[in-house]
Amino acid sequence: MAKENFNMENHWLPFTPNRHFRQHPRVFVAADGMTFTTDDGRKVLDGVSSLWCVGAGHNRRPINEAIKAQLDTLDYATAFQVGNDKAFKAAEMIAALAPGDLNKVLFCNSGSEAADTSMKVALAYHRTRGEGHRSVFIGRERGYHGAGLGGMSVGGIPANRKVFSTALLPRVDHLRFIHDPLNHAFINGVEP
Ligand SMILES: Cc1ncc(COP(=O)(O)O)c(C=O)c1O
Repeated sequence: MAKENFNMENHWLPFTPNRHFRQHPRVFVAADGMTFTTDDGRKVLDGVSSLWCVGAGHNRRPINEAIKAQLDTLDYATAFQVGNDKAFKAAEMIAALAPGDLNKVLFCNSGSEAADTSMKVALAYHRTRGEGHRSVFIGRERGYHGAGLGGMSVGGIPANRKVFSTALLPRVDHLRFIHDPLNHAFINGVEP
């Protein structure tokens, strides 16, 4: 790609070796359906739906129009002490989809925030019903629960934890990773 077209000094990419990236940048400028367009005009298949965030496809007209209609009507309002009609409607629809009595919805801005928030809800729940001693979390080796300190604590990716070990939650244990190729896989067609 044409490096001279971009000043890449100010934007840090997460989970990316940034110095290397600047030498070999990969830059998208457009997306439609299942494909991206790169700045040098190549088409790239979005095989992971941009990490599961675009499962309905890029540049879908009904979604674009719904976003535009909402922007034109009510772009943003804080969620502290006030609500908005569409958020209540969305919560109602999610509650109807969720199983059993899972019928309370707390909106977050990312999976990382959702992971940390759900851990806080669990702690507060047990404390409120008089069982505040229930404060141990169990994660799984190699699990990923986002970039917040709570999510990294229950997460089990060593590279993500290494630098922050002194700040991670102390009351966390990890189950071993479920994928055990020695005992679970056919090797050359032979059990186990
Ligand atoms: C299980 C799980 N938790 C948390 C996250 C973090 O989500 P986000 O990148 O939106 O912060 C992810 C993202 O892949 C995830 O798969």
